[in-house]
Amino acid sequence: MKYGYFDNENREYVIEKMDLPTSWTNYLGVENMCAVVNHTAGGYMFYKSPQYHRITRFRANAIPLDRPGHYVYIRDDETKDYWSISWQPVGKPLAQADYQCRHGLSYTKYSCRYKDIAGTQTLVIPRGDDVELWDVHIKNESDKVRNLCIFSYCEFSFHHIDMDNQNFQMSLYAAGSSYENGIIEHDLFYEEFGYQYFTANFKPDSFDCLRDKFIGLYRTENNPLAVEQGKCGGSYEKGSNHCGSLQKKITLGPGEEIRLVFMLGEGNREAGSAIREKYSNLDNVDKVYDDLRQYWDSKLSKLQINTPNIGMNTLINIWNIYQAEINIMFSRFASFIEVGGRTGLGYRDTAQDAMTIPHSNPEKCRQRLVELLRGLVSAGYGLHLFQPEWFDPDNKAKPFKSPTVIPAPSREEMVHGIEDACSDDALWLVSAIVEYVKETGEINFIDEIITYADQYTARKDTVTARKDTVTARKDTGGGSVYEHMIKILDFSTEQVGENGICKGLRADWNDCLNLGGGESTMVSFLHYWALKNFVELAKYLGKVEDVKKYSMVMKNIAKAADEQMWDGSWYIRGVTKNGKKIGTWSDKEGKIHLESNTWAVLSGAAPYDKGIKAMDSINEYLSTPYGIMLNGPSYTQSDDDIGFVTRVYPGIKENGAIFSHPNPWAWAAECELGRGDRAMGFYNALCPYHQNDMIEIREAEPYSYCQFMMGVDHTAYGRARHPFMTGSGGWAYFSATRYMLGIKPQFENLEIDPCIPGEWEKFQVTRVWRDGTYHIQVENPEHIMKGVKELYLDGHKVKDIPQLKGTHEVRVVMGNQQERI
Ligand code: GLC
Repeated sequence: MKYGYFDNENREYVIEKMDLPTSWTNYLGVENMCAVVNHTAGGYMFYKSPQYHRITRFRANAIPLDRPGHYVYIRDDETKDYWSISWQPVGKPLAQADYQCRHGLSYTKYSCRYKDIAGTQTLVIPRGDDVELWDVHIKNESDKVRNLCIFSYCEFSFHHIDMDNQNFQMSLYAAGSSYENGIIEHDLFYEEFGYQYFTANFKPDSFDCLRDKFIGLYRTENNPLAVEQGKCGGSYEKGSNHCGSLQKKITLGPGEEIRLVFMLGEGNREAGSAIREKYSNLDNVDKVYDDLRQYWDSKLSKLQINTPNIGMNTLINIWNIYQAEINIMFSRFASFIEVGGRTGLGYRDTAQDAMTIPHSNPEKCRQRLVELLRGLVSAGYGLHLFQPEWFDPDNKAKPFKSPTVIPAPSREEMVHGIEDACSDDALWLVSAIVEYVKETGEINFIDEIITYADQYTARKDTVTARKDTVTARKDTGGGSVYEHMIKILDFSTEQVGENGICKGLRADWNDCLNLGGGESTMVSFLHYWALKNFVELAKYLGKVEDVKKYSMVMKNIAKAADEQMWDGSWYIRGVTKNGKKIGTWSDKEGKIHLESNTWAVLSGAAPYDKGIKAMDSINEYLSTPYGIMLNGPSYTQSDDDIGFVTRVYPGIKENGAIFSHPNPWAWAAECELGRGDRAMGFYNALCPYHQNDMIEIREAEPYSYCQFMMGVDHTAYGRARHPFMTGSGGWAYFSATRYMLGIKPQFENLEIDPCIPGEWEKFQVTRVWRDGTYHIQVENPEHIMKGVKELYLDGHKVKDIPQLKGTHEVRVVMGNQQERI
C-alpha cells in the first residue's frame, strides 16, 4: 500500500493519505533552531539543545502519538464549523476534506481543502534568524463571501526536559506570559535568557497566552474552547502553562486569498518586534525559501548521480545526504523516539556521521572532529557521551543554575574511566580524520595541537551547576592530531585479550553485545581498518618508522584473524570472558553475525577466499527482502555472558532485526570482493525508496533510513522504526558513493573505481572535489562489475585524476584488461 510519492523535481515527499500507520517526520532549521515535525504538524522545537532549551512542548510516547504541535485552525463564522490546516488536531473525516503534506528540505507544507476553503501552512526556520515562520495562505474557492476566523496554537515548554516532565515545583510557577501590541512573550523567570515570543504580521483580534484557557477544561487540541467560541479569552499570567494563540477575523470574497505569517521565536518581546517587522515584509519570507534552496543546492551539488537505479538516484541526490546532514547537525538525540532527554555527542556515532559528509559540510565535519579529539582521554579511549562545551576553551556560556539544588559533577564524573569505555568508539575517529584530509587537502590539520579530556582544567567558578554548562578555560596539556591518532591505535593494540583479539570492554559498536568483558573480533577488524587508513596517512607524511610499526600491528591482527577468529564458513563475533566463542557454526542462537564478517572483509584483513565464504554465509543466513539481519537466529535464552542482546525480544533491534547501520558495511564488503550484483541486491533491499509501495509492512517514512526493521523472528517482520537519527544515514551514503559508485578522494588524486551490477551500461556522477568540478561518465561496455580499463581527462588518456581547478570531463571505461598507462 502506498501513502505518497517522491516529487524529485521539488525535492519533496508528498503524503496524500493522512492516516499513516505512524508519524512521518521532518526536520526544520539548519542552525540554532530546530523543529521536529510530522505529517500532521505535530512536534516540537528547541534552541540549540533539545535537552536544555526546549521551546515548544511534546507529550512523548503518548496518545495521540504526536501532540501538541504548531497548529493553525480555521473557523467558518457562519456555520461555526472549524478545522485545522494540517489533518490533526481537528481531524476532519478524510472523505470530507482533502489534505496533503509535503516534506521538503528544511520545510514542511500542509494543505487542506474543505468546504471550498483552501488553506496552506508552511513551517520553515530561516537561516540567520532564530524563529520559525508559519506561512499561511487562505483562499476562498467558493462563489460567496466567507467570514472566517484564523487561530494559531502552540504550547510553550519549560526549557529543561526534566523540569518539563517531572518535579514542577518551580517550573510551573516560574514561567509567565504577557501580551502587548500583538506580541506574546513567554518568560522563564529563573533564567537570564529565558524568553520566547509569538507574533504575526497582522494586528490580532484576540489572543490567549494560557494553554488551559485556550483549550478549555476537559478538552484537547481537537476541540479548543476558544476556537469553538470564535474568540480567544485574552488570558495571560505569571505562572502556569503557556501557549501562543493569536486570532484574526478575515472576510474573503469569491476567489480572494490572504497570506498571514505567524512567528515563533527565541528572545524577548524586543527581539520579536524586530523579527515581526522583518517578516511582515512578505518579500523577506519569500527570500527564506530561496535561501534555503540555495543552501541545500550548494550541499547537494557536491555530488549528484544519474544511474539506472532511480531509487538510488533519489536517495543519494536528495534524501540520504539530507539525513546524513541532519544527523551531524543535531547529533542524533531529537526525534519522536529520542525526545531530547540526552544530548551531547555520542563518540562513535558522531565520528561515523562526520566521516560521511566532509564534502558537503567540511566546516561541521571539522568542528565535530575537533570536539571528539578534545573528548579523547590521554589513555587513548573516547568519552562515550559528552558535552563538547566541557572541553571548549572558547565556550562563554554561563552555567544554568537550577532553582532546585542539583550537585555539580566532579571532574571524575565528567571523564569516565576505562570501565565505561567502549572498545570501538575512538577507532572510528582515525578513519574520519583521514577522510576529512583526503576530502579537503587540509594536511596541516594533522599537526594541530588539541587537549585531552583528562588534562583539561575546568574553570572553578563555573563548575557550579550542571554538567552541560561547565566551561573550561585553560588547557594543561595536549598533543597533535597525529598523536591523538597514535594514542587511539595504541590503546586498541594494548587492550587485547588472551586470544590476541581486541577486548570488547563495556561494549563495542553493538551496545547490547557486552561479552561480559570478553573479546570482540569486530573491534579487531575495525582496528585493522583504522590502522590501514593511518598507515596511508603516515606514508603520505613520510613517517617511515610509523609505517613500519603499524603495518606490523596489522599483520598480527590478520594472523590472529586467521588462527583465532575463523570458524570454517565465517568469522566468529567474539569470545566471552569465560572463553566461549560467540557466533560459531555450533551455536544454535546467534550463530552468525553481520558486523564481524562485514568488517573482516571491508577492513581488508580477510583473505579473498575467506571473504567470499563469509559474505556468502551472510547472504545465506541473514539476508531478507528488506535488508540483512544483524544476527541469527535470534537469541531466546538470556545469557549475561553474551550480553543484553539476549534480553531483547527476538527479531527486535540488536537481537536479530534488520539493523540498518551495518547493512552498508555489507555493500562495501561486497564491493571489496568485486561483486557489484550482490552489493546492489543488498542496497535495493534496504533502500526505503523501494519500500514506498509496501507501507502496510514498513509503516515508517520511505524517504529516510530507519534504525531497524523487525527481523524474521518477529511477528511484525519488515516493520521499520526510528527514522532519521541512525548511523545508516551516513553509512548508506558513504558506502554507495565511495564503494559502489567508487568515487574516492585520495590525498592527491580522485580515485574512481566503481563496483556496479554487470547489467549497467553506464552512469554519470558530478563530483566537486576541492576546487574542481568533475563530470564523470562511467561506461561499462563489457558488462563487468569491477575494474577500470581506461581513464580520460578532458579527452586525454590519463593514469589518475589530479586535483584541478575549474570544470573537467572525466571518462571512465570499465573493462577486464587493466590497460591503464
Ligand atoms: C544505536 C546507537 C549506536 C550503536 C547501535 C548499535 O544506533 O546509537 O551507537 O552503535 O545502536 O547498538
